[in-house]
Amino acid sequence: MADRRHRKTGKLPFSGFLCLLLLLCFVSVSLLNQSSSSSSSPTPPPNITSPAPLTTATATANCSSLIDRAGVGAVNQSHPPLLCCDRAHRRTDVCYMTGDIRTSAASRRTIFLHAAGTSTPKPEKIRPYPRKWEKDLMATVDELTLRPSPPAAAARCAVRHGAPAVVFSTGGYTGNVYHEFNDGLIPLYITAEMFAGEVVLVVAEYHDWWFEKYRRVLEKMSRYEVVNLKKDKRVHCFPEMIVGLRFHGELAVDSNLMRSGKGIRDFQSLLNRAFDNHQESPPPRPPSPPLQPLSAATAVHRSSTLAILARSRSRRFLNLREILRLSRRAGFEPQLLSPKRSTPLAEIRRFLAAADVMVAVHGAAVTHFMFMRPGTALIQVVPLGLDWPAETYYGEPARRMGLQYLAYNVTAAESSLSKAYRRGDPVLADTAAVTGKGWAETKRVYMDSQDIHLDLSRFGKVLHKVRATVVRSRASILLKKK
Ligand SMILES: *[C@@H]1O[C@H](CO)[C@@H](O)[C@H](O)[C@H]1NC(C)=O
Ligand SMILES: *[C@@H]1O[C@H](CO)[C@@H](O)[C@H](O)[C@H]1NC(C)=O
Ligand SMILES: *[C@@H]1O[C@H](CO)[C@@H](O)[C@H](O)[C@H]1NC(C)=O
Ligand SMILES: *[C@@H]1O[C@H](CO)[C@@H](O)[C@H](O)[C@H]1NC(C)=O
Ligand SMILES: *[C@@H]1O[C@H](CO)[C@@H](O)[C@H](O)[C@H]1NC(C)=O
Repeated sequence: MADRRHRKTGKLPFSGFLCLLLLLCFVSVSLLNQSSSSSSSPTPPPNITSPAPLTTATATANCSSLIDRAGVGAVNQSHPPLLCCDRAHRRTDVCYMTGDIRTSAASRRTIFLHAAGTSTPKPEKIRPYPRKWEKDLMATVDELTLRPSPPAAAARCAVRHGAPAVVFSTGGYTGNVYHEFNDGLIPLYITAEMFAGEVVLVVAEYHDWWFEKYRRVLEKMSRYEVVNLKKDKRVHCFPEMIVGLRFHGELAVDSNLMRSGKGIRDFQSLLNRAFDNHQESPPPRPPSPPLQPLSAATAVHRSSTLAILARSRSRRFLNLREILRLSRRAGFEPQLLSPKRSTPLAEIRRFLAAADVMVAVHGAAVTHFMFMRPGTALIQVVPLGLDWPAETYYGEPARRMGLQYLAYNVTAAESSLSKAYRRGDPVLADTAAVTGKGWAETKRVYMDSQDIHLDLSRFGKVLHKVRATVVRSRASILLKKK
């Protein structure tokens, strides 16, 4: 994870939309008949004699509002073909097309927009992955070309879709679960939620393992089969297409920027629905609300479940056994999981949905806190030098999601680095000096070479405190239910 702080840049524009539409109508009256004929014909559309060119919204107005209004018929078949890109964001580019859109049998990286007058507009190039500012990473993401092309050049449609498409890449950092959510599923939700399932997901750099892992989630976002842009040689035709994904912040869905007003909790409930529908065996449920109202006193006595996610390579717990014993003494029933890439998400979800508290050392697996129930607690064990990523990637998002969040900042004595470096070495004594040298150095020193030996008395105090808040929160939920 090589992220840097990202601030979103104000609200997306809606108000200019009407005047944009009026402008488009005005410019394009002569094209009205062309697009409707080409959109229904299975063979290459007839030649167009109209001199009016393809519309590029970049020239007329901003593309952003078009993207935000996609799928509602505001821009529809009676509008002229259009290609534009919104490149105003630091984090991500998103392009938009409407008209006679066709994938290419010959090139996996070209998508055609067939329209008259295509000599004027240049093709647009885009890498549909929302980490635009990371130049080295983006160079590894396949670039797509959105190419205006004369109607006569159109290849025959093998699959004609009535629904719009959203095109995105599962290249980049895919393979790291944090990024699979942060740069993949959540931006996809942000971009595609407005279609309410009436959208075709088109994946560049498709991986079978990725599809298997997230199939259930994808099925909640789209009613249609996912198109594998890499392997599928058929020409797919669409009336409308968004290429690239919107981005709102780390593990964030900003409801102010969503047409539907939905937020991260809605994404979370989509995740839960995705895995609920497919239960092979009933999950261990948190105790259901009692028929007879349970007294707060009874709630206190029930033991709480502490889910420990243990890493098996770097940033391991070196005294796991003692930690398990300690948590039992603190009134918890500890459960241990070491998730691997192959661990089914359904299993991780079952594990965490039953937990009152999750404990994990900073790392990608902390992302799974998204499976925790609201009001439960996350204790992130923060190794030396990692305060900033811990807070940015997980602390703030966890609070936003309604969890009680606690950073357990390890002391030098609890870090294995205290064995590798002399007391007083900047690695131990001045972490900012080391992290100031950049992410590569931070990763080498603090991410890759550090294990944790928790101080049991110090951690025990935290466990007792968290146990008390969990009990309080449970009691208050019970009171509310009465
Ligand atoms: C797009 O339109 C909105 C609303 O009129 C405006 O606030 C915004 O600055 C425009 N953006 C660009 C990039 O032109
Ligand atoms: C569309 O076609 C019809 C007949 O085919 C014609 O009467 C009409 O003027 C055309 N409209 C435009 C905007 O070109
Ligand atoms: C369309 O134009 C192409 C090349 O300009 C020509 O070969 C073709 O015959 C035309 N088709 C029709 C239906 O006019
Ligand atoms: C297409 O767009 C026009 C102009 O915005 C609108 O009047 C019309 O109702 C739309 N048609 C459909 C089918 O949504
Ligand atoms: C852990 O460190 C962060 C960053 O330095 C700080 O904001 C936070 O208060 C610390 N947490 C605790 C429990 O001391």
